[in-house]
Amino acid sequence: MPDGATAATPIPRGPAARSSGQNTPRRAPAPANGAARPATTEPVADIDKMRFRTILGRFATGVVAITAIDPETGLPTGLAANSFTSVSLDPPLVSFCVAHTSSTWPRLRDADRHCVNILSAPQREVCLQLATKGVDKFAGLEWTESPGGSPVIHGALAWLECSVEAEYVAGDHVIVVAQVHHLDKHHDGDPLVFYKGAYGRFEG
Ligand SMILES: Cc1cc2nc3c(=O)[nH]c(=O)nc-3n(C[C@H](O)[C@H](O)[C@H](O)COP(=O)(O)O)c2cc1C
Repeated sequence: MPDGATAATPIPRGPAARSSGQNTPRRAPAPANGAARPATTEPVADIDKMRFRTILGRFATGVVAITAIDPETGLPTGLAANSFTSVSLDPPLVSFCVAHTSSTWPRLRDADRHCVNILSAPQREVCLQLATKGVDKFAGLEWTESPGGSPVIHGALAWLECSVEAEYVAGDHVIVVAQVHHLDKHHDGDPLVFYKGAYGRFEG
């Protein structure tokens, strides 16, 4: 995070924001409790990026597909993420982090609603396809619509239909907080697990 960058600022949404390059880092106002943190003068720790990835890779996660209908093309699109977590029960909020370099996130955030699909173990190829830049993310994928019209991918364990509540710039990513409007389980099965840069299964 840049020096002095602390919390959140609402990031403008919509095609105008997209075309004017608004998916870029932004400074934030004081937190809601009014307690602005002092700007730090500490140098950023010089941690090797590969080491950071390797150590953090020891934290096993699930994988989700974040999907929406691109309002510009009317076509389904999405990306894979393992930074998903639940945040709040009341109101129901979840979060995930998206790199500033994502070309798909601006399309997802322009949609009124998006779907978080919790991927199952057999969906490794789905994950890889959604993680590939510049391809038809939904080529060969079967999907149905959530109540608000977002893509629910066939074979996902569960889905949550969400809208973007807030975005917080955090270093080279944006932390997205999303409100959950609808959710349901989908297929039964084992989760897709991501651990040490590889995919595995849950054996409980
Ligand atoms: C297992 C896995 C987890 C990922 N998690 C994230 C994530 O949490 N945040 C993110 O921005 N990208 C993540 N990615 C990368 C994106 O899925 C995707 O590669 C990236 O958004 C580039 O595609 P785009 O330009 O179409 O957005 C992950 C990829 C994989 C394979």
